[in-house]
Amino acid sequence: MRILVRIILFSSISLTVFIVNANNRTAMLTDTCVACHGENGNSLGPAIPSLGGMSRNYLLGAMLAFKYEESDQLNAAIESDQDLEDVEAFTRNSTIMARIAKGYTDDEIKIIADHFSAQELFVGQQEVSLTKAKSGKKLHEKYCANCHEEGGTSSEGDTGVLAGQWRPYFLWTMTDYLEGSREMPKKMKVKLEKMMKVSGIESLDLLANYYVSVIP
Ligand code: HEC
Ligand code: HEC
Repeated sequence: MRILVRIILFSSISLTVFIVNANNRTAMLTDTCVACHGENGNSLGPAIPSLGGMSRNYLLGAMLAFKYEESDQLNAAIESDQDLEDVEAFTRNSTIMARIAKGYTDDEIKIIADHFSAQELFVGQQEVSLTKAKSGKKLHEKYCANCHEEGGTSSEGDTGVLAGQWRPYFLWTMTDYLEGSREMPKKMKVKLEKMMKVSGIESLDLLANYYVSVIP
């Protein structure tokens, strides 16, 4: 009996130690991120994106794309790891994230992605023109809503989150896509190019107003 109690006691202590260690490790890995992306990934903007509400696979894809930069290396890293089977990553340029992401092993990046994907979507306060938002909504529904579901609040399909994101970050990202310095899914490219042809550059401003106005 006494032995049994000891075993139970011992195993519950070691479990506690394990959980505390895991939490410390996560905090150690994510402390750096919080300095820029804010507590729980809720950045104070405007050029640093908020991470709350994004899916684990999206975050993994983004971090690995920053880390490996070239598509050959990026694809090789993903293909060699069974855990990353469902991750689709697209190369992208960055000002600072490539340097930061290179400081982590792929396994550490998984812990980081677990942490931020558990955080809630955050919507910062931004000015909005409701007239423009209304036109933006129509564009969104026609060209983007198939994949960016629920007004861009959802990261279903590992798309990242558009609603509530900081406007300068959104516009800058769209410019990267149009200039080709960030790779995107083929079907998104088709839709985006069609929208630009039909509605022109101001469609980005209309969409930006719409995404700022969406509150889940
Ligand atoms: C010095 C500020 C800074 C730090 C520290 C930082 N970031 Fe970033 N992060 C940025 C900026 C700026 C961008 C936009 C891309 C760029 O220019 O590098 C970004 C972009 C991202 C994105 C892409 C978001 C999207 O919408 O696709 C992810 C994911 C990300 N960071 C995760 C992290 C994680 C995880 C950490 C910690 C390991 C971290 N960042 C640390 C500034 C920072
Ligand atoms: C066929 C599906 C599809 C369509 C249509 C689509 N997207 Fe995307 N979009 C994606 C996926 C998948 C990603 C994630 C790419 C990655 O992992 O880098 C994405 C990423 C993005 C991002 C980057 C988010 C971030 O946090 O950095 C923006 C911005 C974006 N899309 C805007 C749009 C807009 C605006 C439209 C409509 C004009 C659109 N997309 C249409 C699938 C789509």
